[in-house]
Amino acid sequence: MFEMFQNYNEPAQQQQGAGSSNQTFVLSISGSSIVPDRINTALIGKICNSINNLYSEGYKFALSVGGGRTCRDYASAVKALGSNRFLQDLIGIEITRANAMLVINALDRAFPVVLSDLLRAREIIDAGKIPVYGGIIPGYTTDAVAAVLAEHLNATFINITNVDGIYNLDPRISRSAKLIPKMSHEKLLAVIMRSAGESAEPSQHVVLDIPCALLLKRSKIRTFVLNAEDTANLEAAVRGQEFKGTVVESTEENEVPEEL
Ligand code: UTP
Repeated sequence: MFEMFQNYNEPAQQQQGAGSSNQTFVLSISGSSIVPDRINTALIGKICNSINNLYSEGYKFALSVGGGRTCRDYASAVKALGSNRFLQDLIGIEITRANAMLVINALDRAFPVVLSDLLRAREIIDAGKIPVYGGIIPGYTTDAVAAVLAEHLNATFINITNVDGIYNLDPRISRSAKLIPKMSHEKLLAVIMRSAGESAEPSQHVVLDIPCALLLKRSKIRTFVLNAEDTANLEAAVRGQEFKGTVVESTEENEVPEEL
């Protein structure tokens, strides 16, 4: 089913992180990691503690925060009450903003209000604060919000989620699923489209969505996907040390000469 991923040369499992301080990172904190069933306050605290550490070392951040289980509960409740997808998305956006408020409260240097104006991110970073966003536009996701922010800020995009990276198969279903350590933007888009064609439901082996992947691809934004639970691994990625996860980057090495 995923033959196109059987041939890649398997690089070392450890990836090289981003590097010098003073760099900007857009961190997309997936709702499925911080609100898997109920709100995981310990994990929110742990992630924010890592961001606080990294910020004090000179790294700059903008954040987007997802909705998780609460979002899905509210979306199905409004659906049951007769709402259309637009209204389901609007309530989803409200939940992402509530989660963003939790993150703001756990950060030392957050701008104190959840933002929706992307153009304010630069001035807030330059003023020594961390801008935090939830959802913005119905029909999109907080990963897409993070991608457009990364484009605006010329930043590295990091998605922290509930799996270790992007897989060739769904790791929840297939025991032979392998983490893809490195891939090009073209390949990311191909694997997302392939998985979208298989099922109407989002899949956990491709944690990013098509609008997000298109934005990452059009500006060749360097992207890391890694597990939110392992905050030491997140810190390593930002500091330019070896880390476990998927790096999406359009380098010659990642361009696999096969049809997509
Ligand atoms: P996300 O899908 O971004 O949250 O937003 P999530 O829980 O982090 O997703 P995972 O963990 O990556 O799977 C939740 C919902 O909020 C609405 C959509 O309905 C989306 O499914 N939303 C979010 C928007 O409509 N627009 C946005 O810009 C963001």
